[in-house]
Amino acid sequence: MRVRRSRSATGWALIAVLTLLLSGCAVAGDDGDIPQNALAPAGPVARAQDALWDLAFPIAVVVFIVVQGLILYALFRFRSRGQEEKLPKQVAGNTRLEIGWTLLPAVVLAFIAVPTVSTIFALSTAEEDALNVRVVGKQYWWEFEYQDPEQQGVVTATQLVIPAGREIQLDMQSVSAQQPFDPGALPQGEIDPRGPVALGVIHSFWVPQLAGKVDVVPGHTRHMKIEADEPGLYLGQCAEFCGLSHPNMKFSVLAQTPEEFDAWIEAQAQEAEVAEEGLAAEGQNLFAEQGCVSCHAVAGHPDNLDIRIGPNLTHFNTREEFAGGILDVQNDDHLRAWLANPQAEKPGAQMPNLNLSEGDIEALVAYLRTLD
Ligand code: CUA
Repeated sequence: MRVRRSRSATGWALIAVLTLLLSGCAVAGDDGDIPQNALAPAGPVARAQDALWDLAFPIAVVVFIVVQGLILYALFRFRSRGQEEKLPKQVAGNTRLEIGWTLLPAVVLAFIAVPTVSTIFALSTAEEDALNVRVVGKQYWWEFEYQDPEQQGVVTATQLVIPAGREIQLDMQSVSAQQPFDPGALPQGEIDPRGPVALGVIHSFWVPQLAGKVDVVPGHTRHMKIEADEPGLYLGQCAEFCGLSHPNMKFSVLAQTPEEFDAWIEAQAQEAEVAEEGLAAEGQNLFAEQGCVSCHAVAGHPDNLDIRIGPNLTHFNTREEFAGGILDVQNDDHLRAWLANPQAEKPGAQMPNLNLSEGDIEALVAYLRTLD
């Protein structure tokens, strides 16, 4: 008996040590920053939500300790001591206690509800000068489409670029890149240039340092706002299981100074240059011949169809990551591996394996490198 007890104590100690060690995995770099720490808000939206946590969490801890403490006390105090005992005094109802444990939680809940409800209302109204971006969740990457007249036509993927210090209003939808076996079987109007709406799945948009998560549900437009105080890179992650590559559906929000952002928008609104000669021109032809144009838009490509089933590649080189944030844009080997076999890099990816030859892949990489 004694041996077993000491073993389970060892087991608990091991779990405690492992928990400590694994919690270290969340820390990146030497400065101890946790890039997806929801308790380190970096903007007003996240701060308002964090303030609610700061209010409710200590109360919840006190309630937990009191309730669990009473349960443990009752378990030990009134446990069976082995011998036959007569029943304790039987009690039916106690008005004072019942009023007490009804009123007290009601007061606590009301105390939490007032700031919670007012925060919900405050966060659901958009400021006049908010920047409007449509976010489209697909399997398995995020598309960002700038909605305001000054930024019309700018569409990007995987990295959302925003100006720091300005509110960003997000309209979020879900579509699928998957093509239906029988398009006629889908309800009218369920296919748009971005992919069939009816085949969308639930994703959840979460940039912990900028705002709490919001589910993106097919057939609905969900709204949320985010804002970053300072320029910087804020990491995000799809937070709702959406299929095989749900863990590979990462993204980031890059907050820039307003001047940098304006320059970025101006550059993004330009068309890509047409490749006139060499390997890049060969790749440009292949981009049409191999059918890339029927999923990917490249504004400026001679055969551009402006279809947005896959990511818009017009300014591919200005992004940091691709394939849902798991591969490095600047790494030629990543690009080659992706073009050779997308599913091997990202299971369930909806980009087909085109069985490209090595020569084709080199030409396509050369072309993609011209897309600045
Ligand atoms: Cu999208 Cu998980």
